[in-house]
Amino acid sequence: MTLYKGRINASPNELMDALNKSLPVDIRFFPYDIKTNRAWAKELTRIGIFSKDELSKINSALDEIIKRYEAGEFSVIPDDEDIHTLTERLLTEKLGAIGARIHTGRSRNDQVATDLYQYLRDTLKTLSGDIKKLLKTIADIAKEHSDTIMAGTTHMQPAQPITLGHFLLSLGFALKRDNERIDDALKRIDRCPLGAGAIAGCGFLIDRHLIAKDLGFSKPTDNSIDTISDRDVAQEAAFICSTTLIHLSRYAEQFIIWSNPAFGYVKWDAQWSTGSSMMPQKRNPDAMELVRAKSARGIGDTVTLLAMTKGVPLSYAKDLQEDKEAVFDALDTTSLTVKVFTEALKSATFNKERMKAVLTSDMLATDLADALVEKNVPFRKAHERTAKFVTYLEDNNSELLKATQSEFDEHFPEFKDAPLKLDYQASIKRRRSAGGTAPVSVLEQINNLI
Ligand code: ARG
Repeated sequence: MTLYKGRINASPNELMDALNKSLPVDIRFFPYDIKTNRAWAKELTRIGIFSKDELSKINSALDEIIKRYEAGEFSVIPDDEDIHTLTERLLTEKLGAIGARIHTGRSRNDQVATDLYQYLRDTLKTLSGDIKKLLKTIADIAKEHSDTIMAGTTHMQPAQPITLGHFLLSLGFALKRDNERIDDALKRIDRCPLGAGAIAGCGFLIDRHLIAKDLGFSKPTDNSIDTISDRDVAQEAAFICSTTLIHLSRYAEQFIIWSNPAFGYVKWDAQWSTGSSMMPQKRNPDAMELVRAKSARGIGDTVTLLAMTKGVPLSYAKDLQEDKEAVFDALDTTSLTVKVFTEALKSATFNKERMKAVLTSDMLATDLADALVEKNVPFRKAHERTAKFVTYLEDNNSELLKATQSEFDEHFPEFKDAPLKLDYQASIKRRRSAGGTAPVSVLEQINNLI
């Protein structure tokens, strides 16, 4: 069906058709387009365009159409321009003149925005639920490892002892912020575009508040030009997906490093690993590698969505049709990646002994400096003296925990009466103020996370 044959009296050039056709992508909107049609038909009935009897015919026809879709009838994509054209054609084929009246006062411009908002609302809510499941997984593992000591690094160099629980929770809080971003975006998505028309609003006196309510939105969008021109809701959704993917990517990278035997901190269940076709010994952390890679897609989708609207004159232009492929990809990719990460993490075995074995006692240098501060040495001075001591030990093939009492006494007479006891346990336990690495603080953080 051509929607505009009265004006455009030739079939599109084959290449134009390939460029213009969005149905292969936007067919995913089918369930939403059906809902949009139902709400529109209902409002048209209220203002007298359809009779009650005609409305019930429309609803039955829409029921039938969606059933055909769910049964897979449209898996071979029909030859329509987009999802809205397809729905209207099917309705008109079924109902004749009644179907031909459904587009009264409506444009595909407000229709596509309405489908998009519904899709984003559902999909972001689902994603938020999936992220919550990952938070729960993180909390469970963090609890189990609230006192598992490992080497915390900055610049990839040994820094200070931390607890594994503390480390894992750092991802938890980053993801929690992503979920807060989703909640915030949902507020902006909670506006109904239907009734904005092509640009100027609807030529019939509809009640957009009723339509909004009917479609589960709090209220209608405020300005019809803005409604049909902007795609910031899709851009924001893709950005949120990107932050989540980038968060996961960094931790995936960390876990990949940790699964190298040189670290040996973590082992993935066979389900989440692959082997090599040639090297029999291989056990590769492919799940994490793919998580790491997927963030590139999210970034790409976000850039596509942003660039797509840059410089497009107001109001609607076909450029905006390009939003769907990118936003679908961003959300599909993020949803899959979050699920894989969750399950792979559940299967991971963290090797406490190995983490302990690779601790290096130079990581206790800050504790030594802090102990000097407690003896009234100004921190900068304490830092310098400790640094010199660490260098002295290094030059003598020794390290902090191997230093002799006399070496200690010589460098730090402050501790002569009460010898200082440096150890990893004491180091983590000291850091018990909010957000710190101490087991008590980790347990507190778990409560804040969930
Ligand atoms: N398929 C189009 C899109 O996704 C629907 C809107 C078409 N509007 C138009 N004025 N041609 O943007």
